[in-house]
Amino acid sequence: MNNIKNVAIIMDGNGRWAKLRGLPRTAGHLQGTKNIRNITIAANNMGLSSLTLFAFSTENWKRDEKEVEYIMRLPGKFFEDYIDELMENNVKIALIGERDRLPVYALSPIEEAEKRTKDNTGLLLNLCLNYGGQREIVLAVKDIVKEGIPTEEITEDTISSHLMGASADPLDLMIRTSGEYRISNFLLWQLAYSELYFTDVLWPNFDEKCFVEAIESFNGRDRRFGGVKK
Ligand code: FPP
Repeated sequence: MNNIKNVAIIMDGNGRWAKLRGLPRTAGHLQGTKNIRNITIAANNMGLSSLTLFAFSTENWKRDEKEVEYIMRLPGKFFEDYIDELMENNVKIALIGERDRLPVYALSPIEEAEKRTKDNTGLLLNLCLNYGGQREIVLAVKDIVKEGIPTEEITEDTISSHLMGASADPLDLMIRTSGEYRISNFLLWQLAYSELYFTDVLWPNFDEKCFVEAIESFNGRDRRFGGVKK
């Protein structure tokens, strides 16, 4: 059995979930947000170190303005409903993404939750908003140049340590819901040796049982990290 610590999820399929029920796309995002609570609690109970969720990409700004505003209001609602339970469960919150483009009504509840949970020692819940994997690497390179680090001293560790906040841990497993087989500019550096798991289940329907199935699939993988098993 593999030792699983860090899991990331591309939460896809909210719009299709809503459409199947004749509801507006926003209803899918709301249901998806409730599911973040369920999967976070499950991940914490399983003893995972981190759960990194792709909530809004640097490309998602292209969506209809009303939908973007709705999504940006969801972190506020999420913490209003669940911050006490997350505290009770010792979950620590972190935001990964460029903060300056986020509206204050999205940013301030997340920053408040970061502050409130900063000493928690359970699951680290990384919420990626206004996040792009290529952008993250560009920003890391810029910082390395600004710091004047000599080129011959630059290693993989230099890049890792310049990535955004807590996002640098190598991922064990990346899950994408809703039957799409893409990485979509998510955690490009951290995914180097991750196991990938794709499921047709839409994110609002991806329950604890589905999550356990994904982890069981991971447990059955033969991870060699480029080497050969003796
Ligand atoms: C992808 O489904 C989902 C998103 C782009 C938004 C996900 C955001 C949340 C679940 C809420 C975030 C809340 C917090 C607390 C951070 P899609 O709209 O692309 O679905 P589709 O492919 O079926 O249209």
